[in-house]
Amino acid sequence: MTIEGPATYWDLLWAGGTRYRPLDENELAALKQHAGPGAGRTALDVGSGDGALARHVAQLGYATTGIDCSTAAISLATENSTAVGVTFREADIEGPEPLPVTEGSVHLVTARLVYAFIADKPAFLGRMRRLLVPDGLLWVATPMADRLPDRAWVGISADDEDLLTVGWSAVDITDIDYMRCYALRP
Ligand SMILES: C[S@@+](CC[C@H](N)C(=O)[O-])C[C@H]1O[C@@H](n2cnc3c(N)ncnc32)[C@H](O)[C@@H]1O
Repeated sequence: MTIEGPATYWDLLWAGGTRYRPLDENELAALKQHAGPGAGRTALDVGSGDGALARHVAQLGYATTGIDCSTAAISLATENSTAVGVTFREADIEGPEPLPVTEGSVHLVTARLVYAFIADKPAFLGRMRRLLVPDGLLWVATPMADRLPDRAWVGISADDEDLLTVGWSAVDITDIDYMRCYALRP
């Protein structure tokens, strides 16, 4: 689903109390297995929402930045995150402004429940790839449209998956009910 004006769209949902699928243990275990320990390494969580995944990544030891286009989400994430090692910044991942991380410097980029809503997926993937160090990891966790026929717009299609997974040196997939998690290596 393509959203015009993502900041306004998501801000209304967060401010109105909408919340999203909580992290589950299988998902976190798969991420930990692929990402490994984070001491001395950096991570970026894209579309960080209430900050739960960014906090988890920080607990693995990564110096973590969460970015989200919603002011309400960033406020919520910041209020929830008193621990060291994680900060949140308002930013549109598809916008023209520079991101608060340097290209070629990020060891782990995570994008959970957000890839389906990215309007220009090739541009997004190129941008994420340029952020990564050469042996970095892009972790994308997303619903699959064909597993959620009543809410297909929150998931990705087979064509979206083809686009997501082409051109990486390694692709590993973990299925968790209607979700699919992709570990993508440059
Ligand atoms: C369905 S929520 C998922 C939040 C969180 N990742 C989670 O797993 O609970 C999607 C999030 O992506 C953010 N988002 C969507 N499009 C974005 C964009 N272009 N730039 C930055 N954040 C975006 C929304 O504001 C929202 O917080």
